[in-house]
Amino acid sequence: MSVVRSYTQRRVGPWHRLKEVLKLYQMHVHDVPCQVRELLADVANTRRSIEALLGGELVDKRVLEIGPGQKLKTATILAHRNCVTAIDLDFVARDYHVGDYMRMLRDNGAVRAGKTLARKVLGIDRVFERELLRALEIDEAPQIQLLRMDAAKMAFDASMFDCVVSFSVFEHLRRPAAVLDEVKRVLFPGGVACVYVHLFTSETGAHDVRVLSGQRDGIPYWAHLRPEHRHLVRPNSYLNEVRLGDWRALFDSHWPGARFELFREPHLQGELARVRQLGGLANYEDDELLSSVLAVLWKKPPTAPHGLQV
Ligand SMILES: C[S@@+](CC[C@H](N)C(=O)[O-])C[C@H]1O[C@@H](n2cnc3c(N)ncnc32)[C@H](O)[C@@H]1O
Repeated sequence: MSVVRSYTQRRVGPWHRLKEVLKLYQMHVHDVPCQVRELLADVANTRRSIEALLGGELVDKRVLEIGPGQKLKTATILAHRNCVTAIDLDFVARDYHVGDYMRMLRDNGAVRAGKTLARKVLGIDRVFERELLRALEIDEAPQIQLLRMDAAKMAFDASMFDCVVSFSVFEHLRRPAAVLDEVKRVLFPGGVACVYVHLFTSETGAHDVRVLSGQRDGIPYWAHLRPEHRHLVRPNSYLNEVRLGDWRALFDSHWPGARFELFREPHLQGELARVRQLGGLANYEDDELLSSVLAVLWKKPPTAPHGLQV
């Protein structure tokens, strides 16, 4: 029996699952070149922020990605010029032989394995990977060391990585504090961690595929935070529901000196004003409702020659 639990743990009926898969399909196949361009631009921004803190290029570095997901998008980009290790709670396959699917079914559960199989059968991941490699001007996907591991309990020695990155994973963690400690331990002194958290209190924070895909089926804005509408929402994965203030406090206490940046969604201002007029969302700050992502950057203090941290 598997000891590591997949993060897709919610009970949803087969009809809703089918609708969810169709919506995901539409999202995945929509303008792949544009998706790749946006991804490359996002990673280029992230790279610049990391390099500014590292004090040098993010090239030939030992990089750890936590929770790369089945498509290995960011890992592939970073592995083009670095030595990347990627750990995920789920089994992530690269070659997709029959044995890989059997293992996926056993380790990741029927829902996640089914979604991955559907994407492979429909050729969605292949199209995306081909476009990504074309944009990177390489013929073959670069080497990535893929390991199934819980980020809260890593099997690595201390100080093994120059850089740790993670995108849209922390909101799914059952023990975020333990993960922050682990990242601190496995980072080399002077190394940099970069984490993007999709905020639960953001409009899309419930991870309901209908809202994520923009086809909301009449779901009211921020329905997951409004008791009268909460029953309409179907999150597609486990969420720890940590709020912005608590994230800041948690990062500050584990990674002193961490820098924060919020990615705002100003186009939602009008919707928020309408909900507030009706007396809704009174217990939430504008910042946490109008920001989709919290980006956190931290440099582990370098060690002085005599072994003390400076
Ligand atoms: C929403 S997906 C994000 C995938 C990818 N980073 C992206 O941006 O598309 C979250 C991933 O985090 C992984 N995950 C969740 N909890 C984890 C943990 N404790 N340790 C390692 N991976 C975890 C899940 O299995 C899943 O692949």
